[in-house]
Amino acid sequence: LDNGLAITPPMGYNTWNAFHEDIDETMVRESAEILISSGLAAAGYTYFNLDDGWNQKTRGLEGPMEYNSTRFPSGIPALADWLHSKGLKLGVYSDAGSMTCAKFAASLGHEMEDAKVFAEWGVDFLKYDNCFATWPKKMSVRKRYEAMRDALNATGRPILFSMCEWGVSSPWEYGHEVGHTWRTTKDISMEIEATWADVVENLDETAGLARFAGPGGWNDADMLEVGDPGGKALTYTEQRAHFALWALIKSPLLIGADLRKLKREELLLLKSREIIAVNQDPLGVAGDRVWKQGPYEVWAAPLAGGARAVVLFNRHVASDEKFDEHNMTLHWGMVGYPIDLEVMVRDLYKERDIGHYTGMMTELVEAHGVLALKLTPTKSVEGLDTW
Ligand code: GLA
Repeated sequence: LDNGLAITPPMGYNTWNAFHEDIDETMVRESAEILISSGLAAAGYTYFNLDDGWNQKTRGLEGPMEYNSTRFPSGIPALADWLHSKGLKLGVYSDAGSMTCAKFAASLGHEMEDAKVFAEWGVDFLKYDNCFATWPKKMSVRKRYEAMRDALNATGRPILFSMCEWGVSSPWEYGHEVGHTWRTTKDISMEIEATWADVVENLDETAGLARFAGPGGWNDADMLEVGDPGGKALTYTEQRAHFALWALIKSPLLIGADLRKLKREELLLLKSREIIAVNQDPLGVAGDRVWKQGPYEVWAAPLAGGARAVVLFNRHVASDEKFDEHNMTLHWGMVGYPIDLEVMVRDLYKERDIGHYTGMMTELVEAHGVLALKLTPTKSVEGLDTW
């Protein structure tokens, strides 16, 4: 959707993975304060998105939806003002059906009045789901989402439109014309905690879709599970892989953890400057899988100025408990570089140059882990901005 938003993938916070519908003003204010004091907001995480559970269960036949004034006693407009005064933005959630997925009031047939009230409240982001969409049967998913796109546009307020429709149509095919991001996957945590299998499944579902993404419209592999909740289900190594790969495929970076319980190492992971820079790179080309042999994969994206972001990924689907490191070789041909090109290779997590290489390089990658690299040609060469 071309209204100047989401030129790079949106970054922020979403309440669903850690809190489900149990959200209120106190947790929002506490979490937003942490976003700021921890440096996450300064690192780019500026959207604070309320997911399902912020509004009333029912609505009148006429008039816009209403927020839950027991959970949000100061009201959503005051919350928006407060977030704006802190340099943050507010997101809300609704649905293109008769109810949201958690059975709160939804927007089908009420798009204009809901969009108008969201704009009046100062909302900056709308996640729009596709549950209970049985009426009217003839209306396609795309049409129901277009109705809300048009309503948002009619408000004159730039509101980022995040389409959460999965398992029904192929939103990437029309996503660019309708919204700013579109879900490519199931929920990353159907249960409270995501497993490694969930992360890998969402990644696989997004593989091959990079060509549909670009400035103004991005594939969304679902919220981040770094530190969520408490990082019990995913090891730290797995969280690092998850974060680097989401950044590379240019998925929105929306933190899903309970920020009050985030461990220091998880906070530092989320603030990894050079990984975030890949996600927010001005060239705006999403990364994709470029090579695969068994559990060993290379994911890569061109970056502005002819550089490459490369993630060497050892997914190691072990049938036993023995997790192995593996020597992985990157050939320049995998990332569209001429074989005789000399590049400086940098480790993006360690924020350290590894050295100069020509044609290929080999590095050890731990099981369920990644090596996230940036390759920069030592001399400028024409035509390396694309594959
Ligand atoms: C769906 C979405 C989730 C979340 C819930 C809320 O399952 O995919 O991301 O928004 O609904 O009920």
